[in-house]
Amino acid sequence: MKLSFLSLLVGTAVAGPLGSYRVFERLSGAPEPWALKAESKPGVLPSEAFDVSTPDHPDYGRHLSRVELGDMLAPSPQSYDMVAEWLEEKGVSEKATIEDDWVIIDGTIGDAAELLQAEYQLFENKATGKLTARTLAYSLPNALHAHIDIAAPTIKFSTPSAMRSTIVQNYPVPAAVKSSSGDVHDGLDVVACNSSITPDCLKALYKFKHFRASARNGNQLALAGFIEQYAQHDDLAQFLGVYSPNANGSDFSTMLINNGTNLQVKDRRSIDEANLDIQYGFSLAYPTPTVYISTGGRPPENIKNEVDNEPCLEFLTYLLKLDNIPQTISISYGDAEWTVPKNYANTVCDLFAQIAARGTTVLAASGDDGIESKCNIVDPNKLLYNPMFPGGCPFVTAVGATYQVAPEVAVNFSGGGFSNYFARPAYQDAAVNTYLTKHADPAYTKYFNASGRAYPDVSAQGVAFHTIQTGNDVPVSGTSASCPVFAAVVALLNSDRISNGLLPFGLLNPWLYSKAADAQAFNDIVNGKGLGCEGQIPGSGFAATVGWDPVTGLGTPDFKKLRKMSTGIDS
Ligand SMILES: *[C@@H]1O[C@H](CO)[C@@H](O)[C@H](O)[C@H]1NC(C)=O
Ligand SMILES: *[C@@H]1O[C@H](CO)[C@@H](O)[C@H](O)[C@H]1NC(C)=O
Ligand SMILES: *[C@@H]1O[C@H](CO)[C@@H](O)[C@H](O)[C@H]1NC(C)=O
Ligand SMILES: *[C@@H]1O[C@H](CO)[C@@H](O)[C@H](O)[C@H]1NC(C)=O
Ligand SMILES: *[C@@H]1O[C@H](CO)[C@@H](O)[C@H](O)[C@H]1NC(C)=O
Repeated sequence: MKLSFLSLLVGTAVAGPLGSYRVFERLSGAPEPWALKAESKPGVLPSEAFDVSTPDHPDYGRHLSRVELGDMLAPSPQSYDMVAEWLEEKGVSEKATIEDDWVIIDGTIGDAAELLQAEYQLFENKATGKLTARTLAYSLPNALHAHIDIAAPTIKFSTPSAMRSTIVQNYPVPAAVKSSSGDVHDGLDVVACNSSITPDCLKALYKFKHFRASARNGNQLALAGFIEQYAQHDDLAQFLGVYSPNANGSDFSTMLINNGTNLQVKDRRSIDEANLDIQYGFSLAYPTPTVYISTGGRPPENIKNEVDNEPCLEFLTYLLKLDNIPQTISISYGDAEWTVPKNYANTVCDLFAQIAARGTTVLAASGDDGIESKCNIVDPNKLLYNPMFPGGCPFVTAVGATYQVAPEVAVNFSGGGFSNYFARPAYQDAAVNTYLTKHADPAYTKYFNASGRAYPDVSAQGVAFHTIQTGNDVPVSGTSASCPVFAAVVALLNSDRISNGLLPFGLLNPWLYSKAADAQAFNDIVNGKGLGCEGQIPGSGFAATVGWDPVTGLGTPDFKKLRKMSTGIDS
């Protein structure tokens, strides 16, 4: 068996003597449904990402170029020297090449096993029967621990799809209720939008119907696609004809990463997520140029090709090499945090910090399982709510889901909670403290880590979106729907900023929790509850409440107020 890709990310510490081997990373067991399988990777984190994103900080808006960021994060020459010395000693130095801060070793599984004192085994995914080579632990010489951030592929166990789509399959479409009209503005059809959603519903509800973005100021919206999800051009054309005639005849562009493809197929399961993202991202942000980014890589089909690419890492490292990264990126995919090894999660989150420092806002769906369906999965003897990744990374803006329009209500699948990996960032201290002291039911605080990064940050509609799938009008629900909606709003705000000589937001959260919250630029959601752990913890979950809460965040967007706070322009 050939291990074609072993990467060591070289860290930034200073040199010391090589020592004996010590375990570097370990998993206690293989998470279900893999009987065994994984991979990893790292990064280095600039507090710069926070500084350049914090309103009123002297460095606010001073995003870094690719070259500046690369210089800032470059590993020390000693780190390379020590790694080179070690590879030389192990007789594999001629198989190693250096690519940025990665050392890529083109060797065999045997080389990797020897180098990392790891026992690689074939693990089988019980659900799919797929096999992959992974180890439950690996070691590095003592002296190298400070110089290497991660080795991949080693212990990262992917769920069967590596990054799961956050669509809720077969969620019921609420019944249309004829009743007295509620808060009517901008032609919002309260009765129709109360039961199913179109772009017009969202434009009226979130008050951006009359805003016209620029097609030519350099601003771009990107919708990320993984796990062989393909955005269909013909379905978009049909969707625009029906739901967004002003954009009729226009189309998205495609960026392919890591041998990603964007096949035009007639298979509902391979297109539903991508079509939802592109149809809403495109029509809401129109005429902002919109790009579908398809990243290849997924758990391998067989032993001949046993080495897994980790799509999320490939995606972020590719973007960081671009001179211009799209200013707004929507990711409607995620995984339960506990299935992601901590070191790997840190690495990915560090890469999100770098993307933020470059001036890009990344939004991620908060997940569709509320607090997750089983609460004794991490520790069989202890009941705990399960947070999501990457929504729990503080450099990502996590988006929860609502439904109904008069008033908007938290939907029961909307994911939220508190990360066990990432500490609460300062930008949300006040909002989360208020929630914890004034609104959280003390009987349930033992089920989550109150000191962790709390999410979602914001929310948007997420139930019964009209979409076109293989030519048919199909309702789709999930935080997968909410994420591109909020991302489109951010793309429009960025467009407004750029056209008015301001820089794009970059990491959005510090601004959301300070300026935007102070201006009450959200529709605060105070009804509904995110559920989970059915039957295990009676009454579990998080309820929406006044102010920030772990099911709808700060609330849904009021574009007019956000715009006023952003560029000072009244619309
Ligand atoms: C929206 O739907 C909810 C739930 O069915 C209902 O209580 C409410 O009256 C509806 N609002 C309007 C304006 O139809
Ligand atoms: C959209 O364009 C197509 C042809 O490109 C045309 O057949 C259709 O009538 C147009 N629809 C609308 C609503 O303008
Ligand atoms: C992409 O595919 C080509 C041809 O199949 C292959 O040679 C190359 O190694 C692949 N690249 C990646 C990053 O998987
Ligand atoms: C969430 O609400 C939907 C629609 O009312 C319902 O079908 C589903 O059973 C609810 N889920 C839970 C976990 O209660
Ligand atoms: C709680 O979160 C903190 C980070 O804020 C982390 O260091 C700690 O390990 C977490 N505790 C548990 C039990 O996961």
